Amino acid sequence: GGLVWRGCSAECDAEDGAAGALTDGNINPGDKLEGTDAAADDPVHLKRRVGLFSGVALIVGTMIGSGIFVSPSGLLERTGSVGISFIIWMACGLLSLLGALAYAELGTMNTSSGAEYAYFMDAFGGPPAFLFSWVSTLVLKPSQMAIICLSFAKYAVEPFVSECEPPVSLVKLVAVISIVMILAVNCYSVNLATNVQNIFTAAKLVAIAIIVGGGAYKLILGNTRHLQEPNFASSTATLGNIATAFYTGLWAYDGWNNLNYVTEEIKNPSKNLPLSIIIGIPLVTLCYALVNVSYLAVMSVSEMADSEAVAVTFGNRLLGSMAWLMPLAVTISTFGSANGTLFVAGRLCFAASREGHLLDILSYVHVRRFTPAPGLIFHSLIAMAMVLYGTIDSLIDFFSFTAWIFYGGAMLALIVMRYTKPHAPRPYKVPIVIPYVVLLVSTYLVVAPIVDKPQWEYLYATAFICAGGLVYLPFVKWGYSLPFMDKITVFLQMVLEVVPTSTTFE
Ligand code: ARG
Repeated sequence: GGLVWRGCSAECDAEDGAAGALTDGNINPGDKLEGTDAAADDPVHLKRRVGLFSGVALIVGTMIGSGIFVSPSGLLERTGSVGISFIIWMACGLLSLLGALAYAELGTMNTSSGAEYAYFMDAFGGPPAFLFSWVSTLVLKPSQMAIICLSFAKYAVEPFVSECEPPVSLVKLVAVISIVMILAVNCYSVNLATNVQNIFTAAKLVAIAIIVGGGAYKLILGNTRHLQEPNFASSTATLGNIATAFYTGLWAYDGWNNLNYVTEEIKNPSKNLPLSIIIGIPLVTLCYALVNVSYLAVMSVSEMADSEAVAVTFGNRLLGSMAWLMPLAVTISTFGSANGTLFVAGRLCFAASREGHLLDILSYVHVRRFTPAPGLIFHSLIAMAMVLYGTIDSLIDFFSFTAWIFYGGAMLALIVMRYTKPHAPRPYKVPIVIPYVVLLVSTYLVVAPIVDKPQWEYLYATAFICAGGLVYLPFVKWGYSLPFMDKITVFLQMVLEVVPTSTTFE
C-alpha cells in the first residue's frame, strides 16, 4: 500500500482545534490530535484551561440534553407512580454523583485524558481498553446520537401534528435529516460546530428556566393537586421494571463522567476535578427535581405519561400564545447536544484508530477543512441505522445496558488498583464503599433487565462486545489487515479528500 498519501499530511488550524477542545463541552482523547496549538508545539501536554467554573459548565452542559424533555413520561409509565418515579429521579442523581466521585479518584490518580480507556489500560491492560474503544465507537456514541436525534425529531414535528400522535415514519425521517445536517455542520468546519454548540447550550438553560419558572408560578397559585398523590400503591414496579426505569432516568444524567475525558486540560485537577463534580451533579439533580415538580404542577399523571413530548404539553397548558417557545427551545437544545455528541464521537474514532484499534481511514482528516470527516460519516451511518430500526426507549435500554457494563468496569478498575498499586499517589481518595456500592448497583442494572424481561437489545449489545474480542486478536494484536483494505483506503481517500494528519504520534 505505497499509495497512501503519507506525504501530504494536513496541518490543522491551531485556533480551530483549540476552540473546539474547549467550547463543545465534551472533550476526548482525540482532541490533542485535532491540532490544538498545544499539540503542535508540545505533543504531550495540552494547556490547562479548564478552571472550576468551566469544569462545572462542562459537566452541566453535557448532562442536560434531551433526557429531561423525554424521560419523565417514560419513567412514569415504567413505574406507574409519581412517588416512585421521583425517588428514582433522585436516586439516579445520587448514583451519578457517587460514580463521578469514584471517577474523581481515577482521574486524579491517572491524569491522562481519555477516562475509561486510560483506567482500563492501567488496571487490566490492552484488551479491555480496546474493547471499550470498540464499543464506544460502534455502539455507545452512535446510540447517543440516535436517541438525541429522535428526541429532536419528536419535538420538531409535534407542533405540526397538534392533537394526534405523529406518524413514526415522519419522526424517523426528520431524525435522519437532522443527522445529515449535523454531519454537514461538523464536516464543514470545526469552528462552525463549536459555535453551534455554544449558542445552543444557552437554549437548553432557557428551556429549563421557563419550565421551572412556569411551574413555580402554578404552584404559587395553589396548583398542587397532582403532587399530593404519590400513588405508591398503584406502582407497577418489578425488579426488572425498576432497573429499566433507572435506565430511562440515568439517560438524562449521562455525561457525568465527561470531565474525566479532559483531565489533562484541567487547572489543578486534584482540587478542581472533585470540586466540579461535587458542585455540578447536585446542580443538575436539583434542576431535574424542579422540572419534574413543574410538569406535575401543570398536568396530571396520566397526561404526563401519555404525552408524546412532555415539554410541548407543558407549553400548551401554560404559555398560551407563546406556546411555540417550548418546542423551539427543546429542538434547539437537542440539536446542540447531538452536535456535541457527534463532535466528540468523531474525535473518539480518530483516537481509537490512531492507536491501531480501528481502521486507519477513520483517523484521517479532510485536506482543506481539517475535519475528521471519515470518522464522522462512519458514526452517522451507524446512528442512522439505529434511528431506522430503533425507538427512543429501546435505544435507551440498549445504550444504558452497554454503558453500565463499562461504568461498572471502571469501579472494578478502581478497586483492583487499590490492591495492585497501593502506593500510587491519590490526591483525592474516595471512601472505598462508594465504588463497591456503584459496582453493585451497576451489576444489578445490567443483570436485572435480562433476567426480568429479556430483550433483543441486550443480546445485540453482548454480541457487539464479543465481536470486539474476536476482532482484537487477528487485527490488533497480530496486526493482520484485510488484503483489499489498502485499495479501499486509497479509494475512500480520493472520494472524501482526506489524509492522515501530521500531528499523530508515531
Ligand atoms: N444526558 C444527556 C441527555 O439527556 C445525554 C448525554 C449523552 N452523553 C454524552 N456523553 N454526550 O440527552
